Amino acid sequence: MNTILILGGTTEAAELARRLASLPLRVITSLAGRTRDPARLDGEVRSGGFGGAEGLARYIEAEDVTVIVDATHPFATRISPNAAKAAELAARPFVRLERPAWRKTEGDHWLEVTSLEEAASAIPPDARVLLALGRQHIAVFSQRPDVHFVVRMIDPPEAALELSYELVLARPGNAAEEIAFLQDRRITHIVCRNSGGTASYAKLHAARRLQIPVILIARPPQSTPNAVGDVEAVLEFITAHTGLRLA
Ligand SMILES: NC(=O)c1ccc[n+]([C@@H]2O[C@H](COP(=O)([O-])OP(=O)(O)OC[C@H]3O[C@@H](n4cnc5c(N)ncnc54)[C@H](OP(=O)(O)O)[C@@H]3O)[C@@H](O)[C@H]2O)c1
Repeated sequence: MNTILILGGTTEAAELARRLASLPLRVITSLAGRTRDPARLDGEVRSGGFGGAEGLARYIEAEDVTVIVDATHPFATRISPNAAKAAELAARPFVRLERPAWRKTEGDHWLEVTSLEEAASAIPPDARVLLALGRQHIAVFSQRPDVHFVVRMIDPPEAALELSYELVLARPGNAAEEIAFLQDRRITHIVCRNSGGTASYAKLHAARRLQIPVILIARPPQSTPNAVGDVEAVLEFITAHTGLRLA
C-alpha cells in the first residue's frame, strides 16, 4: 500500500488527511509536538522532530513513504527546506502545500513590514493595539511601554509574558464579531502576520470596515520547490504518483 507523509500543524494539513481517509492509502500526519492537546486527525499521527533533513530522510525510507507533502505553516521556516532536502535524499516525490498570502484590497490600510522589530517600531505613539501574534512572538513589543496592547488568547499563558498588556481569553470571531471586538476595546491598530487562509482573516475584514490600520508582517522568503496553493492540487499530485483515482 502507498504511504503518504503529511508534515502538518495547519488546517490545510488536517483537511488533506480527511480527504485522503477514504482512499486505500496509509496516511501519516507528522506534528512538531508543540501543542499539548492537538485536534483529532484522520489517519495515523506521529509527533516530534526528526533530527534535521537526514533524520527525516531516514524516516521516509524506514516507513517506505511514497509521497511527501509539506503542509506546514508559512512561518515555519526550518521544516520546509528540511522536507525538500529529505525528499531529494530519499528520492521520493515531494509537494509543498502553501496557502496563498493575503493580498491588499481596496479600503485596506496596511503597512507591510518584514520583522517583529520593524512592526514594533512602526506603531505610532500611544496607540491601542490588537497584537494578534503567538505568545512566543510578543516579547519584542516590550520596547513600546507607551502603547496599550490587547493580547487575545484561547488559553491563558502558562508563564508571564514579557510585556504589559490587557489579556482577553477568546477565540477570533467572524467579521461582525471582530468589528464589535475592535470597537469595544477601542483598538486603533492591529499587528499580525500574513498567514493567509480563511481562519484568521475576519479581523482584516473588520479593520477594513472600521478603517483601522494593520501592521502586517510579511512571510519569510522561502523557495520550497514544487509549491501548490490548495488541497485539490495536492490530491492531483498524489493520484498522479500513486495511480489511485479519486471518487
Ligand atoms: N510558525 C508558526 O507560526 C506556526 C503556526 C501554526 C502552526 N505551526 C506548525 O507548528 C509546527 C512547528 O512550527 P515551527 O515554526 O516551530 O517550525 P520550524 O521552525 O520550521 O521547525 C523547527 C523544528 O521543529 C520540527 N518540526 C517542525 N514541524 C514539524 C512537523 N510537522 N513534524 C515533525 N517535526 C516538525 C523540526 O525538527 P527536526 O529538525 O528535529 O526534524 C524542525 O526543524 C509546524 O509543523 C507548523 O506547521 C507553526
